[in-house]
Amino acid sequence: MLFWLNFAKKMKKSYLFFLIFVCVLLIINSCKHEIPFSLFNDNNIDTTDFPCSTDTVYFQNQILPIFNTYCTGTDCHNGPKPQEDIDLTSYANIMASGKLTAHNSSKSKIYKAIIDTDPDDRMPPTANLPQEKIDLIKKWIDQGAKNNYCNDSKNPCDTSNVTYSLTIKKIIVDNCLGCHDDTYIISLTTYNKVKDAVQNRNLWNVINHFSGYKIMPPDTNFKLSDCNIRKIKIWIDAGMPEN
Ligand code: HEC
Repeated sequence: MLFWLNFAKKMKKSYLFFLIFVCVLLIINSCKHEIPFSLFNDNNIDTTDFPCSTDTVYFQNQILPIFNTYCTGTDCHNGPKPQEDIDLTSYANIMASGKLTAHNSSKSKIYKAIIDTDPDDRMPPTANLPQEKIDLIKKWIDQGAKNNYCNDSKNPCDTSNVTYSLTIKKIIVDNCLGCHDDTYIISLTTYNKVKDAVQNRNLWNVINHFSGYKIMPPDTNFKLSDCNIRKIKIWIDAGMPEN
């Protein structure tokens, strides 16, 4: 009898804690299920096309490189404390931000921010996102904002006629200028600046992610394609002509 009395007393004290414990467990569990688990895995690609269709915008091939180039960096939409809690480093994080409505670009805050006419609100703050990239993002959202990918890799990488103006410049604009514009310590906006970065700034080592060097672009998940790296090598080996 005494045992049961003591037990009942103890129960009173610990009852509240027990209840709290159960609630916390319930809350953790419900959070887990709010977002489908698959969203946490970027390899969970909705569709893979071969070859690429010219009518479709592909997230992995075309959209993620834009976000990685123009929206991530120091104090931007990445890292442990992304601006406005919007992390733009992966499909899962972009969708989890809740700022994107599939099939409806005009309702998507991410799209609205990049076309905002108020310079204080417009994204990216440097306002250097080319119109062609803005159009791609719009089209991708309106096509359903899928985590899609297309594979051209069976097509040979065309390395004939590699020139600075048609090949190298485009790779730099598409992948580097979001950070390396003229406001940055290292600018890559002109032929001379790119050449200088190759000669004095380890450009070749950083794009290959060679150990002991910085990684460019800085996001480890995002490396220039082998084809683009090969083209840059051909241009460097040819003596970096200004052609
Ligand atoms: C998201 C922003 C961002 C992008 C995109 C980016 N970089 Fe960088 N880059 C940086 C930062 C930050 C540094 C470090 C600057 C410093 O040394 O303080 C840097 C440094 C460099 C350096 C100097 C490395 C060294 O050893 O001094 C080179 C070369 C470079 N980047 C090339 C590139 C190239 C080429 C691309 C495109 C393929 C690229 N970066 C894309 C942010 C970026």
